[in-house]
Amino acid sequence: MNKITSNSDGPVEIELTPGKTYSWCQCGRSKTQPFCDTESHLGTGISPKDFTVSSKRKVWLCMCKQTKMNPYCDGTHNKLKKIGAINQ
Ligand code: FES
Repeated sequence: MNKITSNSDGPVEIELTPGKTYSWCQCGRSKTQPFCDTESHLGTGISPKDFTVSSKRKVWLCMCKQTKMNPYCDGTHNKLKKIGAINQ
């Protein structure tokens, strides 16, 4: 199975630390959203996205898992809400 699960109707704002590697959950099943919990994606065929930032800053991380600019929100969640495609 490799179906992405969308559980949120918007992004989450988080302050990130430079030099640290973050692992953004891409499957939507992690219990430690928006980050990977290292096991919930197993068997889905979907892997987390590792990323870093170069300076300390607040970012909006995608929670709907449909962004085209992962791990950052690109506004796609607004389209999903309009068509009722987000699991609540
Ligand atoms: S939460 Fe905004 S695009 Fe996913």
